[in-house]
Amino acid sequence: MADHGVPVLRWEESAERPPKLVLLDQTRLPAEEVELACKDVPDLVAAIGALSVRGAPLLGVAGGYGVALAAALGGDVAQAADRLASARPTAVNLAAGVRRVERAYKAATDGGAGEDGAAAAALAEARALHEEDAEASARMARLGRELLGELVPGRRLRLLTHCNTGTLVSGGKGTAFAVVSAVHDAGDLQQLWVDETRPLLQGARLTAYEAVRERMPYSVLADSAAGSLFAAGEVDAVLIGADRIAADGSVANKVGSYPLAVLARHHGVPFVVVAPVTTVDAATERGADIVVEQRPAEEVTQISFPYRSASGTAGEEGVQLAPKGAEAYNPAFDVTPPDLVTAVVTERGVVSPVTRETVAGLCSPSRTR
Ligand code: MRU
Repeated sequence: MADHGVPVLRWEESAERPPKLVLLDQTRLPAEEVELACKDVPDLVAAIGALSVRGAPLLGVAGGYGVALAAALGGDVAQAADRLASARPTAVNLAAGVRRVERAYKAATDGGAGEDGAAAAALAEARALHEEDAEASARMARLGRELLGELVPGRRLRLLTHCNTGTLVSGGKGTAFAVVSAVHDAGDLQQLWVDETRPLLQGARLTAYEAVRERMPYSVLADSAAGSLFAAGEVDAVLIGADRIAADGSVANKVGSYPLAVLARHHGVPFVVVAPVTTVDAATERGADIVVEQRPAEEVTQISFPYRSASGTAGEEGVQLAPKGAEAYNPAFDVTPPDLVTAVVTERGVVSPVTRETVAGLCSPSRTR
């Protein structure tokens, strides 16, 4: 697991005390690396809603541990799983992780494992999910780097990314940022352009924090400055993650991704999505069917230092930007149509062009990489 001074997420238990799930509180970064202990499922649901733990792959892992926590504490595990799965609606990995661990718990219960045995089975499954995420991340990093070598041959790369997709969202090095990191390790990164990612600043606060830790050459830019950067010919490829990929190949990711895809197409720049196969949701037919989370207006109309999510205390502590009570449009994600996506990199391989057929191929049982 990546080292952040404190781990991104850890299971803590001892003979004397009930277990808890301890998170690196991402709302406090980069100002301070502090942990947030979730002693039960309501704590974890609140932490997910406040973005203390966030990013599609890590949401799946956290949700899985949440089911293990519910099982260890005793009580209604099915109800806890439902609450966790719906804590945020867009990243399909969250529900996938929750349901996977719930299935392991049920299978153990049905097999007569008893309460302790079923709780142990749930925890083992959550740990397996966590480890698999790290392995998937390493494979995506390798495949993504090879792909960039083919798409943009013969030069050190200037890569633009949006939101935060690194070690903070993963058991390993993440999704898009894992590819950036592999390029950097190979000595081939000329510049990482980091979109600040309004309104919650995952780029400025979290990706820049990760870039510093990896000693990457990087600059943060206001999201609205990306157009001038493309126009100046300063971007060789865009790399982003995904929260859900519909069956038709549409990609839901942090709001602001779709405008980058349009810019990339206009300027003839590759637009590459990096995501584990668990992000593909065959049950969601088209991009328009993806449920996009709408977040509180205060996240747009206020800002607070150190950063705090609007759920909770921003109202008291935030600096008012817009007039008090201003309405806001605040979707957390947007949807990029498949024809604007050059390639999707997964741990099972690269899909390009991105079509209903090629995406379906990713999910076929015969495809193992
Ligand atoms: O609202 P967030 O911070 O959870 O949004 C995260 C993103 O949009 C990421 O780009 C996505 O989860 C892909 S990989 C982490």
